[in-house]
Amino acid sequence: MSKSLLDIEIDCLLEAIHQHYGYDFRNYAKASLKRRIQNFVSLSDCKQVSELIPRVLHQRAFFDDFLHSMSVTVTEMFRDPEVFKALREDVLPTLKTYSRVNIWHAGCATGEEVYSMAILLHEAGLLERSRIYATDLNHQSLAIAQEAIYPAERMQLYTQNYLKAGGKNSFADYYWENYDSAKINNFLRDKITFASHNLSCDQNFAEMHLILCRNVLIYFDKSLQERVLTLFTEGLAPRGFLALGDKETLNFSSCRQHFERINVPLKLYRKNRHV
Ligand SMILES: C[S@@+](CC[C@H](N)C(=O)[O-])C[C@H]1O[C@@H](n2cnc3c(N)ncnc32)[C@H](O)[C@@H]1O
Repeated sequence: MSKSLLDIEIDCLLEAIHQHYGYDFRNYAKASLKRRIQNFVSLSDCKQVSELIPRVLHQRAFFDDFLHSMSVTVTEMFRDPEVFKALREDVLPTLKTYSRVNIWHAGCATGEEVYSMAILLHEAGLLERSRIYATDLNHQSLAIAQEAIYPAERMQLYTQNYLKAGGKNSFADYYWENYDSAKINNFLRDKITFASHNLSCDQNFAEMHLILCRNVLIYFDKSLQERVLTLFTEGLAPRGFLALGDKETLNFSSCRQHFERINVPLKLYRKNRHV
């Protein structure tokens, strides 16, 4: 069956972006990418997807807006608290036996997940010997993550999540509220390196003991998922841990054979010793 005009326009747009900027959206899951592109068109003064092509190529600010609107950056602190409880109870005790711990949040969005991990590490007495790498392709999100300032109204939900994740301290001790915003305490940020990293083309940069990539793979097609899971398999130390999102799995990947499942519903995996 021949492609629709819309699909042809989208292919041309993605190809132009890839050739000019190196950002590769060609292997994102088509249905949701198409929705986001159409939404971007409806909010711009363009009438058709093909009209975006000269604009993204010649106007950097327009491209930055496009880039921002292509990523879904929804996140929260201690999102899926049972996952953080399992990390606290089943993963951190093993990491505690290591002299240094490297953790990578791939697709960290605005950083809430990363600060949640820093809190877990702090409470386990592990923060001092940890290095957390938090990466994303969205620069605007990374800037918010680095600033660590969030709406104060979110803190009630985050407190509930923290408690469900097995938190025993006062969550309010981890941030400083000023009018309608809450600033996460600096000591939690000291061990975090925020950086731009594109999962569709960039490489590994250190050996990791735990990689979290939650709610990112769902936006990729099978071939890009395979690329990223291979990257993680290679980037993890022997017996390293991998945490995926609620709707994500290793099941259909060739990497599956290299992992044992340590918690099936929570999508926690551990790499085999010999890979
Ligand atoms: C829904 S957020 C997930 C945030 C967090 N991991 C969580 O589960 O709450 C998805 C993030 O993946 C990022 N992302 C999408 N494609 C990416 C890519 N190719 N490389 C790196 N990050 C990407 C988006 O910019 C967005 O911030």
